Amino acid sequence: MPYLQTEVTKVTTHVLQNMKRQGEKIAMLTAYDYSMARLLDRTKIDVVLVGDSAANVMDGYQTTLPITLDEMIFYGASVVRAIKRALVVVDMPFGTYQGNSKLALASAIRIMKETGADAVKLEGGEEVLESISRILTAGIPVMGHLGLTPQSINKFGTYAVRATDQQEASRLLHDAQVLQQAGCFAVVLEKIPAALAQQATQQLTIPTIGIGAGPHTDGQVLVLQDMLGITQQFQPRYLRLYGNFGEEISRAVCQYVSDVKQQQFPNEKEQY
Ligand code: KIV
Repeated sequence: MPYLQTEVTKVTTHVLQNMKRQGEKIAMLTAYDYSMARLLDRTKIDVVLVGDSAANVMDGYQTTLPITLDEMIFYGASVVRAIKRALVVVDMPFGTYQGNSKLALASAIRIMKETGADAVKLEGGEEVLESISRILTAGIPVMGHLGLTPQSINKFGTYAVRATDQQEASRLLHDAQVLQQAGCFAVVLEKIPAALAQQATQQLTIPTIGIGAGPHTDGQVLVLQDMLGITQQFQPRYLRLYGNFGEEISRAVCQYVSDVKQQQFPNEKEQY
């Protein structure tokens, strides 16, 4: 398996920058727990995102808004304990950075100190510039996130593709420049037209990581449980299934239940 890792050289923000320059695509996936993160660490995944999509995947909330800083720190620390190679980025949850840059810095410092992560990610453009700048002054790398920003779902009213009109597209390109000038090391572009993502990628010197943003971004990100077929109810057009582990887990559990009921488990070799 060529993409299983053999030697460990830690991925840094500089490595990602060089990958963009050299045209090598960046592979990023989410993880929220130690066991999954250990499996990811066996591969050559470049970036592991402890996304606030944990609110949906791990906690069962409808949106990402309810997840707390304490929860993100708990998930982040679990993932960091497993990862040796990839750059680990932890999402700043809703309400911990918007409109108050001192709170933003305090939240980011807690994430870095209590998880051991390499960077934080937050959603938004010019409106969160002050928060981003203050976090960066503490030497904390920041990844931006534009396009469909799920923490703004109540403003959008829909999870449909963003920036399909000229005004929103221009705003996104402007915000991408603002994030780059502020010092963000990369930016996630979520659910926007492929041509717009291509334009942003060409205009920026920092890497773009797309989700539902077409093939021209510098990297791609998916939610791990989505691409493994575990969160089966969520099937957007951009999602490619790399496994059907939801079915496999159900099959295995049904077999176990049946074996216990039929007294087929444990057998004579499975006891002391
Ligand atoms: O929270 C998350 O998983 C994310 C990715 C979808 C980029 O922000």
